[in-house]
Amino acid sequence: MLYGRIVGWGKAVPDNILTNFDLEKLVDTSDEWIFTRSGIRERRIAPEGVNTSTLSVEASQAALEKAGLIAADLDLIIVATSSPDHLLPAVSSEIQYQLGANCGAFTLVAGCTGFAYALVTAQQFIATGAYRTILVIGAEVISRNIDWTDRNTCVLFGDGAGAVIVQACEEPTGVLSFELGSDGEGAPHLMIPLGIANPPTREALDKKYQYIHMNGREVFKFATRTLARSAAETIGRSGLSIHDIDLMIPHQANARIIELAARQLGLPMEKVFVNIDKYGNTSAASIPIALTEAIEEGRVKEGDKLVLVGFGAGLTWASAVVQFGLAEKPVATGWLATPTRTVKAAQNKIGVAARTAGMRASLMLVPLYTRVSRKQRKEANSNNQQPK
Ligand code: ACO
Repeated sequence: MLYGRIVGWGKAVPDNILTNFDLEKLVDTSDEWIFTRSGIRERRIAPEGVNTSTLSVEASQAALEKAGLIAADLDLIIVATSSPDHLLPAVSSEIQYQLGANCGAFTLVAGCTGFAYALVTAQQFIATGAYRTILVIGAEVISRNIDWTDRNTCVLFGDGAGAVIVQACEEPTGVLSFELGSDGEGAPHLMIPLGIANPPTREALDKKYQYIHMNGREVFKFATRTLARSAAETIGRSGLSIHDIDLMIPHQANARIIELAARQLGLPMEKVFVNIDKYGNTSAASIPIALTEAIEEGRVKEGDKLVLVGFGAGLTWASAVVQFGLAEKPVATGWLATPTRTVKAAQNKIGVAARTAGMRASLMLVPLYTRVSRKQRKEANSNNQQPK
């Protein structure tokens, strides 16, 4: 059995900050109401021209750099989003192209739960030996799906992207256990109604079907029923207990939901990562952004056991127990003894450097190839023929 070790991580958020005080000028609300009900102080909003692909590429480049890899090393890209640049093609292909990767790519939609679904999916490709290096992205420019006159929703959401790179590893690491769930009966509680069932007619647009429609109370009840239960179930499946969990990284939808889940689990808040105050609910991006910040802030160490747990439109939920890095193993002592991990890390670095050099060399040929194929296409067009 192979495991997907997290070897790179990164995030991207737009520079533009929208505070609760800014929102007071847009709708009938207050900083006090928003903060006490949700824990949000501010969120980031992507300006025109910055799309889900833009943020995804930035987060992915950071993750690749952290892993010491280049895009050409990727075997697969999985993108979780509910706000793709276009309905077709999938934004995953746009991201693959912009990154300069040469691999399969697909988009997965599970609302705010998407990243957890995508990470678990990546682990399956790695466990079977199909792929070795997978980029997993959670990204949203959800602000474009928001009715900025609807105070029920516009105060909650924000834009951003997070990405991780998982790489095949023989030692138990990465996703150790998981639970994926869906209850479509709750679909009407959280939806963007526009689509094949509701095409963009004048009437549909007048009903604002292009925006998020949410029954906040029902989603809240669902989340408080589900989060702790799913996390506990998944921790049990990993053979661990709640005391073994170093950090919970929940979907950042509402600080009250997170605090309640922690209480139900018996997990102190020091072991729960919360950054909703800065970004609001970034949907599928919230867990990878939080994970990246937790690592960067030193809250996640080599060998730590994390529980990631999300919920969202569908209604869906997912949780995963994830081991970060490799567990410390006792090593032979003595002046000749070399810790296996050090050797493995060195081997990995040499392998990556060799592959990177090889890829760079072949990438240098790309402009030449592009010029030749462009020339062929031009000639074919002028002869009104299809290029070969
Ligand atoms: N400012 C001021 N008052 C408001 C606002 C606002 N922005 N929004 C609603 N209110 C009012 C309501 O109209 C209501 O007034 P009423 O009692 O006169 O009818 C009152 O505040 C209380 O409303 P509730 O909905 O009961 O407030 P609640 O305490 O439940 O908090 C909230 C609302 C924050 C939306 C909460 O229900 C929640 O977080 N729900 C979960 C939402 C969520 O997580 N969604 C994302 C899922 S992830 C995904 O897939 C995208």
